[in-house]
Amino acid sequence: MKQMLIAYATTEGQTRRIATFVAEELQRGGRAVDLVDLASPTAANLSPIYAAVILAGSVHAGAHQTVLRDFVKRNRDWLNACPTALLSVSLTAALSDDDSRAACRAEAQKFLDDTGLVPGVVLPVAGALPYTQYDWFKRFAMKSIARKRGGDTDTSRDFEYTDWSALAAFAHEFVGATGLDAGR
Ligand SMILES: Cc1cc2nc3c(=O)[nH]c(=O)nc-3n(C[C@H](O)[C@H](O)[C@H](O)COP(=O)(O)O)c2cc1C
Repeated sequence: MKQMLIAYATTEGQTRRIATFVAEELQRGGRAVDLVDLASPTAANLSPIYAAVILAGSVHAGAHQTVLRDFVKRNRDWLNACPTALLSVSLTAALSDDDSRAACRAEAQKFLDDTGLVPGVVLPVAGALPYTQYDWFKRFAMKSIARKRGGDTDTSRDFEYTDWSALAAFAHEFVGATGLDAGR
């Protein structure tokens, strides 16, 4: 069976939940999927054996994780030779106004320009605001940002904005578009 790779970078954990959800969704459908945390030693030993790849990372201070960027730069040639998708997780992706959509596109494009990745799909994915897991400084900073954007400011609880059913739909559409299911 043709193997897929889902490789992710996470800082607070939401992108791990997202990548795991997509992997499990595809595995339930009988697809063979390797799920790799790009901060783990496994990332250095990945071979170009995959028929399709989903990359996922989150935005902090306007940039995706360095481990994601470095992995893509090291493996760009074979990544660009197979069907790929980039999931760009952020809080901006939770907002639906035109400026926020443009900001998501710009953040993803910056990553693509920097790495030379040419994915077939770029999907902005709304992340989370886990206030109770932040240290006091992050909590203070994120609450100020949320207040400015009219977002959630109750720091006594966590907020999750990820649309899981849209993510499941994306996973199946992506596999369908790759043609991996042909002849199964
Ligand atoms: C310190 C910090 C900086 C952030 N900067 C941005 C940002 O520039 N733009 C944005 O849309 N979201 C930003 N976020 C929100 C994260 O992208 C969001 O919480 C995401 O779910 C984090 O994913 P992770 O848990 O996989 O790291 C920031 C979050 C933190 C804690």
